[in-house]
Amino acid sequence: MAAVRAPRPGQPAGGIEVFLTLRHKSPAITREIRRSKLFFERWLPYSAFACTNAFGGKTMKVDFYRHSISPDQAKHVAAVLETPFLTTGPVSRQVEQQLRDFFDVPHAMLTNSWTNGAIALLLAADIGPGDEVIVPAMTFVATANVVEMVGATTVFVDVDPDTLLMRPEDAARAVTDNTRAVFPVHLYGQMVDTEALREALRPRDDILIFEDCAHCFEGRLHGRLSGAHSDAALFSFYATKNVACGEGGAIILHDGELASKVQRTRLHGMSAGAVDRFKTGSYAHWDVDALGTKANLPDLLAAFLPDQISGVYDRLEKRRAIAQGYAEAFAGSNLVRCVKDIPGALHAHHLFPIAVPANKRDFTLNALAQHGIGATVNYRGVPVLRYYREKYGHTPGDFPVSDSWGASTLSLPLYPGMEDAAWRHVADTLLKDILPRF
Ligand SMILES: Cc1ncc(COP(=O)(O)O)c(C=O)c1O
Repeated sequence: MAAVRAPRPGQPAGGIEVFLTLRHKSPAITREIRRSKLFFERWLPYSAFACTNAFGGKTMKVDFYRHSISPDQAKHVAAVLETPFLTTGPVSRQVEQQLRDFFDVPHAMLTNSWTNGAIALLLAADIGPGDEVIVPAMTFVATANVVEMVGATTVFVDVDPDTLLMRPEDAARAVTDNTRAVFPVHLYGQMVDTEALREALRPRDDILIFEDCAHCFEGRLHGRLSGAHSDAALFSFYATKNVACGEGGAIILHDGELASKVQRTRLHGMSAGAVDRFKTGSYAHWDVDALGTKANLPDLLAAFLPDQISGVYDRLEKRRAIAQGYAEAFAGSNLVRCVKDIPGALHAHHLFPIAVPANKRDFTLNALAQHGIGATVNYRGVPVLRYYREKYGHTPGDFPVSDSWGASTLSLPLYPGMEDAAWRHVADTLLKDILPRF
């Protein structure tokens, strides 16, 4: 019924065509077949199969992201099912120890997302109405949303045009009497210089530095991992992150007092979690002296993390090779701009964003989609999103670097299991099929 044939004269070259025999002795079946043909014709250009596409090039479906947790990891979940606690319990404790060792910090707590961890942290630091928190304009909206969620005021600063990272001097300029914290964001995998940020904020040593490490688990700056110079560093183990368990996160920190407050704000403000209540053999009552959220990670998900953490540098090798391949491929193009690498730093290569002329960004996204290549936008500047525009009266151009990057950026597929042929195909498609159509 279905067959494959070479393109007919006048049809775009470079692919193959699927067609259907259109007649059957039953008219009803013939009608059905014809409907199917229409469906196939409309659907195939976007499908995973090799086919002639709207641009006439060869298609190879390339997903934006594929996780690297193999099905045999299910054994770790099965082991949790053997224990009495599905929620936060011994596996989480073990991972928290692994994090303390990895980052060489005295305190680490797992959370069920970066977002809930950040809310728990802000509550623990007693940041709320009347307080200001400095956030880069170019970040995922979560960084600002958590500030709003606790009733504090988000103060945006623009970012560096080469690295898209918050600059310490810009953060220092935004400080007022009400400033309580700064969220440097290690965007795309490169780290903000938190040591320089600490210096720039002097003499305001009371201002807390909370690193947003959602994009950077394993990166280093001046030889140091996240958490070295900040009051807390927050991670995301969301599905696409370099260390992932579907949904999850962690907070690492140095100060014992802040850590024990987060311990409570991570669980409604309760003085004892489920495991602790039964620890001594007799029931321990709990109390609440300050409100908290529900941010603890269940062992069912924590079970994926030991292998994810121990394998992070092996996967980084693969990420780096792909990122270098893209960077070299685009080096000669005056239509594609890449983020500059910080010399001497260890880049976590979480994403590979590029910028194209702003009036061609959406065209590029759609053209990639038509070629079966997943791409996304990381990110439009937060101040231009409606909630922030309306609340703070920001208009496009207030944060020129963030606004123009946000209008022209898109991220290309990048994941450790990506074949060389796949990233080469993405680069070739852009350079040979899409950019010439600008
Ligand atoms: C920079 C940044 N911060 C925070 C978050 C929020 O992380 P989560 O989804 O774990 O809450 C993300 C998630 O993508 C992010 O990219």
